[in-house]
Amino acid sequence: MPNTKIAGIGYYVPERVVTNDDLAQVMDTNDQWIQERTGIKERRYAKKHEETTTTMGVEAAKVAIERAGITKDDVDFIIFATLSPDYYFPGCGVLLQREMGMKQVGALDIRNQCSGFVYGLSVADQFIKSGMYKNILLVGAEFHSIGLDFTTRGRGVTVIFGDGAGAVVLQPTEEEGKGVLTTHLHSDGSQAEHLSYINPGCHGGKFVGKEDHGYPEADTFGGAFLTQDMVDNALVYPHMNGQHVFKFAVQKFPEVIFEALETTGYKPEDIDLLVPHQANLRISQFVQRILKLPDDKVFNNIQKYGNTTAASIPIALCEAWEEGKVKDGDLICLAAFGSGFTWGSALIRW
Ligand code: UT7
Repeated sequence: MPNTKIAGIGYYVPERVVTNDDLAQVMDTNDQWIQERTGIKERRYAKKHEETTTTMGVEAAKVAIERAGITKDDVDFIIFATLSPDYYFPGCGVLLQREMGMKQVGALDIRNQCSGFVYGLSVADQFIKSGMYKNILLVGAEFHSIGLDFTTRGRGVTVIFGDGAGAVVLQPTEEEGKGVLTTHLHSDGSQAEHLSYINPGCHGGKFVGKEDHGYPEADTFGGAFLTQDMVDNALVYPHMNGQHVFKFAVQKFPEVIFEALETTGYKPEDIDLLVPHQANLRISQFVQRILKLPDDKVFNNIQKYGNTTAASIPIALCEAWEEGKVKDGDLICLAAFGSGFTWGSALIRW
């Protein structure tokens, strides 16, 4: 059975840089608060009406495909992870297939938010190992800035997120001991609403922790997907119970990394580079301390891009690779935690 290797990797971030001071112009926040609590200095925002989650994904995909030494016509399966799709449906996978003029290959959309890339990698790994596909394009992309609350009410969420995309091409490798060695996926739906974006949606008011905002009667036809009330009461923005998410994240990140290490018989000191989902610099530093890793073994770029959710790991992995921090034979650890809650890890021998 072959292993799965990353044959090509690319990323795309929009040109527009938005600093903490820029945000302080429109809401009650400041550079010091944002940097101290999150490590973020700036993030990128896509061009509204020109760029979309799909178009950013396409740009990252083009680079990954070229670096893999293949063409778009060689791609035999698409996996697209995002929480900010262009449309409620169909998903970004098919839009990317159309935009890139690809063959009529399967396109799967992944809805696992910050863990989306690790989930996608795990799915792709099974398809490659089984021999079903030979060139899988896995994309993580987000267009957060189009759906955030740019008032003081939304500051706890808005300052954290940024736009961007990352992509990899996954292929089988027969090289002994190389490629994806293990992946681990978890979820805890009892925490679903603590980090969520529930409106518009099909819940009809039936969700945990709902305040009664007068949803339409259950026996009416339709009408509860998007109501005027949701708009009037600013219920159409992401919600995050930050401290609660933080507590889970610092527990689950190390747990799922140790799970991957134990499965493969490695120890934390065997890791050459940890590329964590860029949720918050403080979370990454906490995980680093638990694993007792030196600074040069943990890659962080949240300072420049904020939290780009499904795109954060492939963007970070690509930057690390471009900077020569991911070398042939290195043991790379990926780990993610986020909305769901979902979390996961992967160990890759590069
Ligand atoms: O991507 C995966 C999932 N997401 C995460 O992993 C995020 C996890 N959580 C976090 O990173 C942190 O909880 C945050 C960075 C979101 C917030 O940091 P915190 O230390 O937990 O702050 P807090 O929410 O407890 O807020 C502290 C204070 C509050 O004021 P009071 O009530 O103490 O007067 C907030 O209203 O800071 C206030 N605040 C802000 N002040 C300035 C909240 N957001 C801001 C802001 N600027 N942007």
